[in-house]
Amino acid sequence: MSVITQPTDLLRRQDPQMADVLAGEARRQAATLQLSAAENFTSTAVLAALGSPLANKYAEGYPGARYHGGCEYADLAEQVAVERVKALFGAEHANVQPHSGSSAVLAAYAALLRPGDTVLALGLPYGGHLTHGSPANFSGQWFTFVGYGVDARTGLIDYRQVQDLARAHRPRAIVCGSISYARHMEYSAFREIADEVGAYFIADAAHPIGLVAGGAAPSPVPYADVVCATTHKVLRGPRGGMVLCGAEFAERIDRAVFPFTQGGAQMHTIAAKAVAFGEAAGPDFATYAHRVVANARVLAQALEERGFTITTGGTDTHMITADPAALGVDGPTARGRLAAAGIVLDTCVLPYGDQRGVRLGTAAVTTQGMGEQQMLRIAELFAAALDGDAAKTRTEVAELTDGFPPYGE
Ligand SMILES: Cc1ncc(COP(=O)(O)O)c(C=O)c1O
Repeated sequence: MSVITQPTDLLRRQDPQMADVLAGEARRQAATLQLSAAENFTSTAVLAALGSPLANKYAEGYPGARYHGGCEYADLAEQVAVERVKALFGAEHANVQPHSGSSAVLAAYAALLRPGDTVLALGLPYGGHLTHGSPANFSGQWFTFVGYGVDARTGLIDYRQVQDLARAHRPRAIVCGSISYARHMEYSAFREIADEVGAYFIADAAHPIGLVAGGAAPSPVPYADVVCATTHKVLRGPRGGMVLCGAEFAERIDRAVFPFTQGGAQMHTIAAKAVAFGEAAGPDFATYAHRVVANARVLAQALEERGFTITTGGTDTHMITADPAALGVDGPTARGRLAAAGIVLDTCVLPYGDQRGVRLGTAAVTTQGMGEQQMLRIAELFAAALDGDAAKTRTEVAELTDGFPPYGE
């Protein structure tokens, strides 16, 4: 726990109030089960880069062309991050400056679209992200989004419908990507449809990108014009975003990130991204990524045996979306009961009806070293938590997590 506790010890002398907050969060993460599909535990090396003096540095622009002085190490950090991520994904060009996944999507739209353009993306009722046309988001206000859906029976993307809608609406861009789709996307099908109607193909791979890095999911890079991603989910880097693309879009993407949609880059985060990309290039990460998927499959099956309806009947990824209705609860109620028992996950849309389900993922628990046996135990703990004995289950959750401390003893 050294990287966690050292700053806390320093802070305790100077700012006991905030030290308590940080210590409480470290305890919460260690003593409860982190099953949010969007989260993970970074390495201590990533945390060290985040807490380094690069946090003090302003570096507007790109390596070799900055508006600020003293950027020699900032330039090196960004060059290392860019070279590592290009090699990791076989991309011709990378921009590692987006502050988040949403900023990466904003940059992709800014590079390829004009206000008012039509964009075809997974509809929000089926798991599209806010940036895929929500009326509450810039995307829904500045562009005309048309939503494709999933088959109500199978929960799978209906590629025939994507094609029909593309032919009917002739969008400027087709987006694939989701917050709750647990299956692989068929990138070649999106590419073919985009080519047929003369649209750009943008892959928002925020969720699967870490599995792609570890060879446990297909890569969108050979198919999409632009790939947007986060760096903090299965990929296990700091909170942040990135854009990958071919050389022909490099200049447009770079200008769309800075100066069009962002100011100065966060250099400490870019250094931390570089550390994570380095880690993801090693053989251990491939083993990890495959374990994440294996754990998700075991957990999905075990939850199904305990009465959850698993959307699409299973998972190809780190993610499981499930309907607890047959257990007499909806998603928000289930999330509340599970949280009371120390099991942390999210709610999500379901591809049918109005009720919300639950979304969970195995990235963080796999980083902690949990395997098949622990997935079966987690399914038991779910059942106990939903039965209502929160205090007893919370103790049992803490007994389980005690054996798998995220940052060592
Ligand atoms: C598909 C998709 N796109 C974009 C994002 C946005 O990422 P951020 O929250 O970092 O802005 C997410 C986040 O979960 C996502 O799942």
